[in-house]
Amino acid sequence: MKAEPGPERIVLVGLMGAGKSSVGKLLARRLGYDFVDLDEEVERAAGRSIAEIFRLAGEPAFRRLEAEVTARLDSRTRLVVAAGGGWMARPELRDRWPGAVRVWLAVSPETAVRRLSERLESRPMLDPADPTSSARVLLEHRREAYARAELRVDTDGRLAVEVAEQVLRLLPGTPPGPAAEGGPAASTL
Ligand code: S3P
Repeated sequence: MKAEPGPERIVLVGLMGAGKSSVGKLLARRLGYDFVDLDEEVERAAGRSIAEIFRLAGEPAFRRLEAEVTARLDSRTRLVVAAGGGWMARPELRDRWPGAVRVWLAVSPETAVRRLSERLESRPMLDPADPTSSARVLLEHRREAYARAELRVDTDGRLAVEVAEQVLRLLPGTPPGPAAEGGPAASTL
């Protein structure tokens, strides 16, 4: 029986603090795919941090850049993409790549905020006075959009490598086996 080919693009979606970047790097390494972090691409394109983009130009400017850097990937395949938390809530972005496998890395607002506690100032969508409540509100607004993903993996209380292994098991057409050891594999989410 011929093995089914792996998906051309795997897009990790979900709330900030879900571990999209850590898990994405592991997946890409394991699959021999390129890894692209859309937030990093936005920062590179703007020449400033996301927090600065929000502060100086506002959320609409950030969303424009997010759409631009997404469109730049149209010609690339064999990609693992870590999307920003709002990406899946935008139909023009989430439905852009037919055949992509979108994976919802689900995280509770409490866990997300705990994971981000050292870097909360880099997440302008969270109210620093009450980050957990703002993460809850974001999740409620976006739950339906995240649930459109082809796959969902829960990440609370799990290591990046465990999450990556589960994604690999669920992906169509990828051979089973342990994720590579060392590097980010050893990091917790
Ligand atoms: C956002 C999440 C962030 C980043 C931006 C907006 C959101 O990405 O794209 O601050 O709307 O939830 P992460 O989910 O990678 O933190």
